[in-house]
Amino acid sequence: MPPPRPPAVHYSDPFPGARPGPKPIPPRPRRLLKKPPLVPQVTTLWDYPSQHYGNEEQGSQRFKGATPSYVIWNVIHRYSEPGEIVLDPFCGSGTTLDVCRDLDRKGLGFDVAPMRPDIQQADARSLPLKQRSVDLIFMDPPYADNLEYSDDPRCIGKLKANGQYQRAMRLVLRECARVLRNERVLAIYVCDVFQKGRGFFPLGFELFEMARPHFTPLDHVAVVRHNRTLEMGNYRKAADEGGFLLRGFNHLLLFRRNAHPFDRE
Ligand SMILES: C[S@@+](CC[C@H](N)C(=O)[O-])C[C@H]1O[C@@H](n2cnc3c(N)ncnc32)[C@H](O)[C@@H]1O
Repeated sequence: MPPPRPPAVHYSDPFPGARPGPKPIPPRPRRLLKKPPLVPQVTTLWDYPSQHYGNEEQGSQRFKGATPSYVIWNVIHRYSEPGEIVLDPFCGSGTTLDVCRDLDRKGLGFDVAPMRPDIQQADARSLPLKQRSVDLIFMDPPYADNLEYSDDPRCIGKLKANGQYQRAMRLVLRECARVLRNERVLAIYVCDVFQKGRGFFPLGFELFEMARPHFTPLDHVAVVRHNRTLEMGNYRKAADEGGFLLRGFNHLLLFRRNAHPFDRE
């Protein structure tokens, strides 16, 4: 009689002398976006590796031209108190309103093409607000005609930087001065524009000068841009061969509203 067959052995069974079995393949770790904690920025160079802080989205990632929410968080945290009124006259996808909710401020958002019901429709040059009624203004206006936002004829994003855009923004700044309380802060997030065939338009410096009749400069921050196009080979090659520079930072211009001696709050 043949000897009984030994019981079937799996290579991975742990018994002395067994051949080592195939190593189990660990599941591929999910690529988690590592975000550093959101802390106040304390120099004039601001950087954060993500468009949004925390696990939720502020505003909408799908909105072309959305503002990085940590910039707004830092401005609101530094220049206002809980319960105060924060205005964004170019509210886009509502990033400012979401940050206001997180920080317990009252957000007021306007746009000519509102994206959601908590944004009211209005032209930033003529806001339905009383004079001296807001405590802080944050704005990220169009950078002349570098992006298309809507068909609304009042959209400042249709205006060229050859003077048309500047004239419109002068009116926006006058309106900001009307609605902002004395001594309170206006923050403008803006990028210079380089357009092939048209040249370089230093919108940051231009807006800085335009604001001066109503506001006193408070500070100037450079905000590192993490735009995907900055990493794309064809854009880098074009910049290298074409002799121009890609925009590596945005300006954050900070002003304090001048108190006029005859103004009454
Ligand atoms: C750079 S986006 C703002 C992005 C916004 N902060 C966000 O995070 O989604 C500029 C916005 O200005 C709006 N806009 C353009 N002209 C305007 C005007 N005259 N009055 C009010 N909003 C205007 C556009 O519709 C667009 O939504």
